Amino acid sequence: MTSRPPNTDFSTSSSSELLTIVTQFASDLGTMTDLPTIGNRIVHELCRAGATTHGALFVLDREHECYRRANMVGSDAPASIPSTLAVSHPLPQHLLATNWIMAQTDSATDLQDTDFGADARRAMESMQASRIVPHLNKSRLIAFTVLGAAVPLTTEQALSKAMLAALAQTATNALDTIVLYEDLHRSHTLMKRTDRLKSLETIAGGFAHEIRNPLTSIKTFIQLAPERKDDPQFIQEFSKVVLDDVYRIERLIQEILDYARYMEPKLTDEDFNDIVASCLYFIDVKADSRGIKIEKELAPDLPRVMLDRQQIKQVLLNLLLNAIDSMAGAGGRLRVQTRTVVKPGGKVWAHIEIEDTGEGIQEANLEHIFDPFFTTKHESGEHEGTGLGLTIVHQIIQEHHGEIRVKSTVGIGTTFFVSLPALPA
Ligand SMILES: Nc1ncnc2c1ncn2[C@@H]1O[C@H](COP(=O)(O)OP(=O)(O)O)[C@@H](O)[C@H]1O
Ligand SMILES: [Mg+2]
Repeated sequence: MTSRPPNTDFSTSSSSELLTIVTQFASDLGTMTDLPTIGNRIVHELCRAGATTHGALFVLDREHECYRRANMVGSDAPASIPSTLAVSHPLPQHLLATNWIMAQTDSATDLQDTDFGADARRAMESMQASRIVPHLNKSRLIAFTVLGAAVPLTTEQALSKAMLAALAQTATNALDTIVLYEDLHRSHTLMKRTDRLKSLETIAGGFAHEIRNPLTSIKTFIQLAPERKDDPQFIQEFSKVVLDDVYRIERLIQEILDYARYMEPKLTDEDFNDIVASCLYFIDVKADSRGIKIEKELAPDLPRVMLDRQQIKQVLLNLLLNAIDSMAGAGGRLRVQTRTVVKPGGKVWAHIEIEDTGEGIQEANLEHIFDPFFTTKHESGEHEGTGLGLTIVHQIIQEHHGEIRVKSTVGIGTTFFVSLPALPA
């Protein structure tokens, strides 16, 4: 971007020069991605076109129902230029109604076009402005530029007026895009936060629900114990139940903490196969004792991945243990395969498939398996589930900008697919 002094006079420009200036301005704005930079360029350019020494850009702040001064240029800008102006103020109202560049030289009859003209003129005078340029888009005044004291306006030529109008329109387009973009960005951040709060709310509700049963049994035991203290069978059996309940509460608390404690993944450059192998080593004994055969196919040329080793281990272990759980009793086969996947657009991913020959997931349950506290392992006493495993898996994969999918057929088995973005080779 070339910066000329703000008071260069354009009144001698030819129309081809005008075109060059407007095109350059548009292309400059196109490379800028934030409001402060764009605003700054706009005020500078309009000051130059209007041959003024100071100027200010006001941008609509929809949340606060006001126009906020986003940029100000010129060391001699008067302190009377306010930092905000209400949407209902006569000045923006007048600009909105006329969609016309307001000038000091406007006649009284010009100002009578709207009810706000006279008040708008007073506001303009108090800001020592020579012109005010509206930026209107789809009948919404998204911004306006205040231009300060100018060279004698009588010397202004038709061409410099056209120049100001053309630059103003270019500025409007750029402002509209950036405001839209910033809105989108804001709502995306908000959505993410809301999602998280929503799942925490679900978790809190679920926790209360989950903990009620074990608490009731513990309470019953404590209430009955004094009068049954001489009944060894009662004491023995009930204390076993109560201990299990205490373990269950402990497990719930641990998993909730794992989930609720927001952990920014500590990404390091890792060999994904290495982590897979170490998880398989960990579950080997358990699988063996159940007569489950592990088939391991690890791609030798797998790209390296930025990941949090501890968190990805947690993901793999959760998936592997679920797979083993699903093959209770009848032996089975657990196939673990890694490979490189190139998605449309050329992005490279390290991919893993974990396939079991277990009981499968019922169609109706498929959409719930990632929900907090969704579990079908309530009845099977041996490995009672908390239903938080996959919730945590999902969260970790999201934090890693990865993807997780599942395919399952009841009676045949289940496959989980996980992809993580690879480091550029
Ligand atoms: N490999 C699998 N095969 C069959 N069902 C599965 C598998 N993985 C997950 N599920 C289902 O998803 C539910 C939720 O899993 P998870 O969140 O890990 O909780 P939990 O293991 O504590 O039940 C399980 O209870 C089970 O119904
Ligand atoms: Mg689980």
